[in-house]
Amino acid sequence: MTAAELYEAAVEATARAHPPYSDLHVGAVLEAADGSLHAGGNVEFGSFGLTICAERVALVKAVSDGHRDFRRIGVARSDRLPISPCGACRQALADFGLDLVVVYRGPDGLIERPLRELLADAFLFDG
Ligand code: THU
Repeated sequence: MTAAELYEAAVEATARAHPPYSDLHVGAVLEAADGSLHAGGNVEFGSFGLTICAERVALVKAVSDGHRDFRRIGVARSDRLPISPCGACRQALADFGLDLVVVYRGPDGLIERPLRELLADAFLFDG
């Protein structure tokens, strides 16, 4: 699967979003080392701080299904405007490896960047 295809899968995953408050539909698709794909959309709650981003929805779904090794994650908005993972999601993803390649859209097109660049000097529990 090309990076462009992973991005398109993330656009499709925006159909899974439940954002009744912001109306911002975000999708994420995590590609595991075995090639399996795990999709999620952002889920919002009336108590706004409980909102869960699409990236973390995809992550907890995959981890809960037994996956621990991931290659890439694609992130997209349904309107295809630029988006990159928020800081909280970068931190959560870091637990599973800084070599993860993040595919998202920047102002000038598709970007593929390892998590270690997006989260410099990441906090890791084991140091
Ligand atoms: N959101 C994501 O799903 N991923 C991000 O990386 C940034 C923000 C969601 C959270 C919330 O439902 C909406 O976008 C507006 O912040």
